[in-house]
Amino acid sequence: MQDLLKLVAGSANPALAQEISQHLGIKLTAVDVGRFPDGETSIYIRETVRGADVFVIQPTCPPVNDNLMELLLTIDALKRASAERITAVIPYYGYARQDRKHIGRVPISAKLVANMIVRAGAGRVLTLDLPAGQIQGFFDIPVDNLRSDPIIAGYFQKQNLENAVIVAPDVGAAKRARAVAERLGMPMAIVEKSRVSPDEVRALGLIGDVKGRRAVLVDDIVATGGTLIEAAKLLLECGATEVYAAFTHGVFAGDAVRKLEASPIQKIAVTNTIPVPHSPKIDVISVGVLLAETIKRIHYHESVSEMFPHD
Ligand code: R5P
Repeated sequence: MQDLLKLVAGSANPALAQEISQHLGIKLTAVDVGRFPDGETSIYIRETVRGADVFVIQPTCPPVNDNLMELLLTIDALKRASAERITAVIPYYGYARQDRKHIGRVPISAKLVANMIVRAGAGRVLTLDLPAGQIQGFFDIPVDNLRSDPIIAGYFQKQNLENAVIVAPDVGAAKRARAVAERLGMPMAIVEKSRVSPDEVRALGLIGDVKGRRAVLVDDIVATGGTLIEAAKLLLECGATEVYAAFTHGVFAGDAVRKLEASPIQKIAVTNTIPVPHSPKIDVISVGVLLAETIKRIHYHESVSEMFPHD
């Protein structure tokens, strides 16, 4: 059975794919990803995948359009090469922001991308911390949407942070922050945020108490860094002694790393769903083992939800 499990690494996060391959003890299937002279992506699967259960590891992180197109072409090549089942392992699902029409005449990008992945030939999707759980319903195939709160809580357990409070930097992050706070047995607070423009946010107020405590911000994504930085400033104004941050997907758009390095946040922990830039301020929490274990369970038809017991 094991020999029917094949791993294909896209070019978006080869280090994560390598880690998954090492944990499972399965070599990555040889694939050539290249460019035609006009810039189009070319794919060549160099070994047979006939009858195989194939997992394609490709987050759709920046450059989003290139990585998405590569994922679609790889799935198409595998389908036409008679793979039995193709699972798109998308640790970070790009285009997730537009999951509804918030005003007239805009696309629902998250739904369109889901349609494209299904039409290309994926039979399943494995992802992590979708910004909105309902995106699972955009796919008419099974979607395993893993949670990162157990590994984020595990990271802070090792840090031995005493007298800390877990903080959601906006109301949308409250559920995730609550899950981490409960695992750590810590109190929780919520920042009230207003987004003025795509790259400008304001932290308006705080629900909860951080006075005299270390504040740990927990969120799903960092893009411009504005949400974290504004929240950190407010927390210090409200009496927090130090501010830390942990989040799942490090998009780090534009000069986000430089801005975060210059911010009052002491340390930032981020998972490697997207390759993490080097910075003395950034710690990496790996999701390699979590994804590898899940791939194994999917392949052997074992429960995935058992990995996240309701406690
Ligand atoms: C949405 O509000 C998300 O949970 C994040 O807080 C947001 O995407 C972060 O974006 P930025 O880093 O650009 O403030």
